[in-house]
Amino acid sequence: MTPDSHEFIAKNGRIIMIRGARPEDARAMVDYLKTTAGESENLTKSPEEVVITVPEEEAFLKALMNDERRFMLNAFDGDKLVGNVYLAEIGSRKRIRHWASMGIAVIQDYWGLGIGRALMKAALHTAEKLGFEQVELGVYTNNENALKLYQSLGFEIYGRLPRACKLGKDKYQDDLLMVKTLPQGGTSNE
Ligand SMILES: CC(C)(COP(=O)(O)OP(=O)(O)OC[C@H]1O[C@@H](n2cnc3c(N)ncnc32)[C@H](O)[C@@H]1OP(=O)(O)O)[C@@H](O)C(=O)NCCC(=O)NCCS
Repeated sequence: MTPDSHEFIAKNGRIIMIRGARPEDARAMVDYLKTTAGESENLTKSPEEVVITVPEEEAFLKALMNDERRFMLNAFDGDKLVGNVYLAEIGSRKRIRHWASMGIAVIQDYWGLGIGRALMKAALHTAEKLGFEQVELGVYTNNENALKLYQSLGFEIYGRLPRACKLGKDKYQDDLLMVKTLPQGGTSNE
C-alpha cells in the first residue's frame, strides 16, 4: 500500500518529508541501513551484517507497494534519507492478524529533531487505517530515548526478555517488550 505523505518542520528548521518507501529509494535505503547499524548498538544488526544488495532492496520495496499488511515510511531532508519506520503483520492467520510489529531508526545527525516521533505517529496512523488493533515492539533496556518516545505515544511494557542482545563477553541487554492498542483499528477474524 502507499501510505499518505506529509511534510513537517524539524527542530533544526529543516523541512522533512515523510512518505511511503518506493523502489527508487533502494540505494539510499542500503546506505541508510549500513549507517544506522554502525551508529547504534540498539539495533539487532551490526554493520557487517547489512549485506542486502541494491537490486534485492529494490525488489523488497516493489513487493511492499502491493502489500496491504506491511509498509515502510521514509523521512527525507531534501534527497537525503534520514529515517525509516517499518510495520508488518505478525502473521496472516485469522487469530493473529489483528496485530503488527514495528521498528524504527533515524540517522544520528538527525536525532532529537522530532523525526522519530513524526515517523512513529505516521506509522501508527497508517496501521490503524489498515485495521490493525495493536502494535508491538521491543526496546533494549539502555535505549532510554526510544523508551521515552514509545511511552509518550502510549506503548506499555508487558514483558522483559533477559539477555536478548549480546554485545560482548558477559555484556548483555534485556529486551523490553511493549504494546500499544489502536482504538480505531478493527480486523475481522472470520
Ligand atoms: C530512538 C530514535 C528512533 C528516536 O528518534 P529521534 O528522531 O531522535 O526522536 P525525536 O527527536 O522524535 O524525540 C522523540 C522523543 O524521544 C526522546 N528523546 C529523543 N532524543 C532525546 C535525547 N537526546 N535526550 C532525551 N530524550 C530524547 C524524548 O522523549 C523525545 O520526546 P520529545 O518529542 O518530547 O522531545 C533514534 O534515536 C534512533 O534511531 N536511535 C538509534 C536506533 C534505535 O534505537 N532505534 C529504536 C530501536 S527500539
